[in-house]
Amino acid sequence: MKTSVFLDHNATTPFHPELHGHVTEWLKVWGNASSIYGSGRSAKRLLRESRNGLSKALGVSPLELILNSGGSESNNLAIKGWWYSQSRDPLKSKIITSNVEHPSVAEALGWLEKNEGAEVVRIPVCRESKWDYKGYLAALDQSVGFVSIMMAQNETGFLFPIEDIVKEAHKVGAVVHSDCVQALGKIPFDLKSINLDMASFSSHKVYALKGAGALYVKKGTEINSLITGGGQERQRRAGTENLLSLASFNWAVEKRLGEEPFSSVIRDNFENNIRKSIDGLRVTGESEKRLPNTSHLMIDGIDGESLLMALDLKGFEVSTGAACSSGRPEPSQILLNMGYSKKEAQSSLRLSFGRCTTQEHIDSFSKTLIELVERLRGLSQ
Ligand SMILES: Cc1ncc(COP(=O)(O)O)c(C=O)c1O
Repeated sequence: MKTSVFLDHNATTPFHPELHGHVTEWLKVWGNASSIYGSGRSAKRLLRESRNGLSKALGVSPLELILNSGGSESNNLAIKGWWYSQSRDPLKSKIITSNVEHPSVAEALGWLEKNEGAEVVRIPVCRESKWDYKGYLAALDQSVGFVSIMMAQNETGFLFPIEDIVKEAHKVGAVVHSDCVQALGKIPFDLKSINLDMASFSSHKVYALKGAGALYVKKGTEINSLITGGGQERQRRAGTENLLSLASFNWAVEKRLGEEPFSSVIRDNFENNIRKSIDGLRVTGESEKRLPNTSHLMIDGIDGESLLMALDLKGFEVSTGAACSSGRPEPSQILLNMGYSKKEAQSSLRLSFGRCTTQEHIDSFSKTLIELVERLRGLSQ
């Protein structure tokens, strides 16, 4: 099989090459961590080590992590878990979010709005990733009980000013959750100094196995369990733990946080170079703070899906938007929410570089992109 150059690390990441040997060791630990005999105790030990390692890497207490299946579950648990908690003040039923959240946040909030009468206010990120921070401040009043705003946007890479968001929300007594799935390992942050109440993480964005996640819940923040059953995760998430993925998650987070994140200088050089050869190319939100590994492009007169397929044939794996919506012909909902037209949204391409992306990959990709854009434009004339 021909090896491809993978440039879609915001969708998922390849396994860290050193993980293979560790997985063989972890496979020997097959017991149920709730059993009290030997194989169960070994499983419990590995689970404890994974929890302790993850919490140390994130700078929080092991008791503040609810280990689970990934980012989507963490987001649902944070949002619905807060809504259904016994201690929630029913007078604080207004929730503030943005218009560019991952579907696991957007749909969980939409569900509360439709079925539970929550008032959900979506503060817009507009064209060029301009976020209406003034609108956010204006929406904060005493009826706001919850704020859920992501740290880093998965398609455009836009970074929200999360520290300010938290500070202002706490002034009105709101609980603040942030989807940090795309931020982990790409930008440095300190959960304790940001003072978030809840934060979501996922294993498969940091070179670990799929199917593990963690929700950080600050001590004193109350949430209700969504999955009831056994008493795992201190009654906050029932179900036998996915030990293998959780162990890999811990290992990868420790490894990842010790590595240099992808440099924005390489990304900026790439954007400047291709711009010289492709007319009508725009970089979304280029003057805003962005994830250093992410480049979101719109290319006039080009259909992103056709370009993606042509690039795939040449051995480059990229995306036109969120992975969960590819396969559907509709343009990215996020871009439409930001005010881009259907045509503009359909002309987009997202590149997300990773730890194994080399300058050689970027150079050969740039050359191919320039050739293909010329060819596709020629065909449509
Ligand atoms: C910002 C963001 N949040 C949540 C998720 C969902 O994470 P998972 O795939 O672990 O459920 C993703 C995955 O693409 C994401 O990019």
